Amino acid sequence: MSDRDGLFAGDDPFAIARAWLAEAEKTEPNDPNAIALATVDAQGLPNVRMVLLKEIEDDAFLFYTNYESVKAGEIALTNKAAFVLHWKSLRRQIRVRGVTEKEEGEKADAYYASRALQSRLGAWASQQSRPLASRRELMAEVALVTARRGVSPQRPPFWGGFRLRPLEIEFWADGAFRLHDRFRWCRDTLDAEWKIARLYP
Ligand SMILES: Cc1cc2nc3c(=O)[nH]c(=O)nc-3n(C[C@H](O)[C@H](O)[C@H](O)COP(=O)(O)O)c2cc1C
Repeated sequence: MSDRDGLFAGDDPFAIARAWLAEAEKTEPNDPNAIALATVDAQGLPNVRMVLLKEIEDDAFLFYTNYESVKAGEIALTNKAAFVLHWKSLRRQIRVRGVTEKEEGEKADAYYASRALQSRLGAWASQQSRPLASRRELMAEVALVTARRGVSPQRPPFWGGFRLRPLEIEFWADGAFRLHDRFRWCRDTLDAEWKIARLYP
């Protein structure tokens, strides 16, 4: 027997995530799609940073970054990652854990092309996560790629998407006196059926 309804209605967790995000787009002052993305390094030490969730696909969550960054290196170690989406105004969170794959095809090209020219050139100029001597050096690099790449740069081969396919998705909504509602969708493998459970807060 299930008492899952209201915010948690429906069996497709991606549809629920999309609906919550659409609501957050109306209430959050900025970046409602900001996710705290967690990876682990070779020693098992966790690492976390914000990135922007750019799409919720039928069976995956998509974000973009530099493939030579620390996060990409850590993803490459395990092909696993996790993230949390938290909306302070809505008092809700979505937690996701799963396996990753690169998106470096047409979709990445199209997203790259949709960005502002300065951002496209910035992606070329940034050796993300590596030491930088000064701001001036960065601006010199931007000037260089601007001269070299022109007004319609190709997507850099070292920049693209990651798709996170979840094994676990948890929806959390604030309740009075810390009696929150939590529902977890879980599957052992990517092609297994979801098992849904309510959790104690
Ligand atoms: C709100 C917010 C959104 C961000 N979005 C992205 C993003 O979509 N992609 C990205 O590579 N970095 C993004 N960043 C920067 C990352 O947090 C981080 O500094 C950078 O990716 C380097 O991380 P790494 O050294 O762990 O690889 C964002 C930062 C903030 C605060």
